[in-house]
Amino acid sequence: MDVAEAVATRRSIRAFRDTPVDLETIRRVLDQARMAPSGCNFQPWRATVLTGEPLKALQAKMLASAPQDPIEYSFSEPNASPTHLARLQNLGACMYGAMQVDRADKEGRDDFSRQNIVSFGAPVLLLCHFERFMGSPQWSDVGMWLQTIMLLLRGEGLDSCPQEWMSLYARLIKAEIGVPEEEQLLFCGIAIGHRDPDAPVNNFERPRVPLGEQVRFAGWE
Ligand SMILES: Cc1cc2nc3c(=O)[nH]c(=O)nc-3n(C[C@H](O)[C@H](O)[C@H](O)COP(=O)(O)O)c2cc1C
Repeated sequence: MDVAEAVATRRSIRAFRDTPVDLETIRRVLDQARMAPSGCNFQPWRATVLTGEPLKALQAKMLASAPQDPIEYSFSEPNASPTHLARLQNLGACMYGAMQVDRADKEGRDDFSRQNIVSFGAPVLLLCHFERFMGSPQWSDVGMWLQTIMLLLRGEGLDSCPQEWMSLYARLIKAEIGVPEEEQLLFCGIAIGHRDPDAPVNNFERPRVPLGEQVRFAGWE
C-alpha cells in the first residue's frame, strides 16, 4: 500500500471485529513511527498499549465510573465558533444518519458515545500520555506521531480510531496503567484492530472542507 492509499483508506473505525492483533505487528508499527518528526527532535510522545485482560479490567472500571470532574483538558473550545460547531454537527448528522439514530434520540446518541469506553470493540488500545510541561508545539508533534501510527497500521491491514474520549477518564486510566498523575497528561487513546466492513458507522461519507477554503497558493501563473 502506498502512502496515498493509506491516507485515503484510513478512517475512524467505530465498529471493530474481535480478531486479535499480535504484539509483533504493534511493535513493528511503533518502532517505525519513531521516525515521525518533532520540533527540536523532542519526541514528546509516550504510550501504553493494552490488550486482553489488562484492557478488559480497565474497561470494566471505566464502565463502573462517571467521567472525571475537573476535566483533564478541554477539547471543545472551537464549539464557540459557529463555523466549527457546524462541522461537528455535520459529522453527527452523517454518522448518526448512517446508523439511523434520530437527531432527537439523545439517549441513542449517548449510548453510542459510551461505546468509546470499550473502544468500539477494538482488541487493542494505545493510550497516549506525556509530560504536563509540554506546550502546544509538542502537542502538535504528538499528533504527527499518532497519524504516522495510524497510516502504518493501514499498511499492516489494520484500522484505528483516535479517542479523546479517554481523557474523560484520565485519572482512572493513569492509576490503572501506572502513569504518575501529577507528572503526565493523558491525551487520547487509539483503538486498534480490524474494521467490520459492513457496519454502517464505518461507511458514511466524511464531510471535508474544500481545499480552496483551507489553503491559499501564490507564485504560480
Ligand atoms: C485527536 C483526535 C481525537 C478523537 N477522538 C475521538 C473520540 O473520542 N471518539 C470518536 O468517535 N472519534 C474521535 N476522533 C475521530 C474524529 O471524529 C474523526 O477523525 C473526524 O470525524 C474525521 O473522520 P475520519 O477520521 O473518519 O476521517 C478523534 C480524532 C482525533 C484526531
